[in-house]
Amino acid sequence: MKARRGEYGFDAPYVPALMLLGSLPLWFGAVRSLMRSELVGFVTMGVSAAFLVFCAGTFIFTTRTGKFRVWDELLAGLSLRGDERVLDVGCGRGAVLLLAAERLTTGKATGIDLWSATDQSGNALQATQQNAAAEGVSERVELHTGDMRKLPFADASFELIVSSLAIHNVPDAAGRAQAVQEIVRVLRPGGRVLLADFKYVADYSKTLKEAGLHEVTTRGLGVRFWYGGPWAATSVVTARR
Ligand SMILES: C[S@@+](CC[C@H](N)C(=O)[O-])C[C@H]1O[C@@H](n2cnc3c(N)ncnc32)[C@H](O)[C@@H]1O
Repeated sequence: MKARRGEYGFDAPYVPALMLLGSLPLWFGAVRSLMRSELVGFVTMGVSAAFLVFCAGTFIFTTRTGKFRVWDELLAGLSLRGDERVLDVGCGRGAVLLLAAERLTTGKATGIDLWSATDQSGNALQATQQNAAAEGVSERVELHTGDMRKLPFADASFELIVSSLAIHNVPDAAGRAQAVQEIVRVLRPGGRVLLADFKYVADYSKTLKEAGLHEVTTRGLGVRFWYGGPWAATSVVTARR
């Protein structure tokens, strides 16, 4: 994978921050127990503090490095021709969108987002535009502000639709199903979809099957895509219309 030149922020930045902050009193407690020769307290608090640091570490690694490597491999596996129209739903600052754009020649990579800075630090349309320029793909990238539950695109507009860690942000199951149905609507017959998330992936798979998509499969994306630990491991559901 080409080294990234853009600035992609942190996904849900409050989560690793809370983990690291939460570990501080435990570290102090462990040191105090050690100074008082309280072995049980030292071990309990020390292990708990180290556990929180481990969780924050996997989260930060995934958001800064792991997800880029995994998506680069996923996109490589698609053997794109280069002329495809690609949509990234909930593109944020463009981590996946711009990796896809780099694989295009005459094609176009379109990103849509509501730019929530809670879901990703520094999230803004301008930030993604700047990243597209930094990665040298501005002319192949188009950005829209909009809600994934009502995509502002005509039916059958895209050959490939991707989404990474975005659909779970829709708070209710009906809204998430609506977002997946919208993805199906704007996907061309024969087109492919890859939806990566750390929860609700079975629901996405069910909605895709109900919508009549073919080759619907789900697989885990491994330790490089853990948001804190194996209990928040990302999976991808892939399908073809
Ligand atoms: C954790 S970020 C992931 C961003 C990007 N896919 C990535 O992997 O770096 C989740 C993104 O989903 C977007 N989002 C949340 N709800 C949305 C909605 N209803 N419609 C469109 N985008 C949404 C957020 O603004 C945010 O950019």
